[in-house]
Amino acid sequence: MRITYFGHSAFQFQHGDQSLLIDPFLSGNPSATVSPETLSPQTILLTHAHNDHVGDTVAIAKRTGATIITVFELATYLGRQGVTAIGANHGGTVAFAGGSVKFTPAWHSSSYSVDDDFVAPGIPAGLVIRFGGKTVYAAGDTCLFGDMALIGEEGLDAAILPIGDHFTMGPADAARASRLLRAGIVIPCHYDTFPPISQDPAQFATLVAEQCDSTVVALRPNDAHDF
Ligand code: NI
Ligand code: MN
Repeated sequence: MRITYFGHSAFQFQHGDQSLLIDPFLSGNPSATVSPETLSPQTILLTHAHNDHVGDTVAIAKRTGATIITVFELATYLGRQGVTAIGANHGGTVAFAGGSVKFTPAWHSSSYSVDDDFVAPGIPAGLVIRFGGKTVYAAGDTCLFGDMALIGEEGLDAAILPIGDHFTMGPADAARASRLLRAGIVIPCHYDTFPPISQDPAQFATLVAEQCDSTVVALRPNDAHDF
């Protein structure tokens, strides 16, 4: 299984000829170096409606026919734009080509800006993804919460955690989250995209090493990790 980071919270998972994208914010993402036209996923998973997560989803889904899976209201909202979108909610599991995703809570907001206004399609989520023989928790945008210990009981090979602070948990709380999640590796995200969320991933790795056995794998945009 290969995880490729595209910057901010955008990831690609590949296994054999199957691939999925998470939160493909590429156009307008100052840290992204890949063009959305080059990606051909079968599945797109979205954690919530903020524009820095939905990103290029509709354009990619229209071009490739990829199925979008996300929270119910956001799926309904996107489905009206001529794409296939499956809506689920916290606790629910949805199967897709090559794997499945279970939706978990995330403490955050979830709105989509259209022109000068916000629409608010649904609530934010985290994702427990089973794909390519691995179990990966993508926390989405969230603060630290104690029920991450329950998510840790899923037996995580990897946890993808925001460390940017300001809009999500910062490095100290993400290290505490790592202690609850007990994943084999921790991949930090949602940092260094914009000035308010600039962070040092090496310092985060030190904090995690002080608290648990997880190994921090800090990917730069376009880096991949095979496991
Ligand atoms: Ni957000
Ligand atoms: Mn965000």
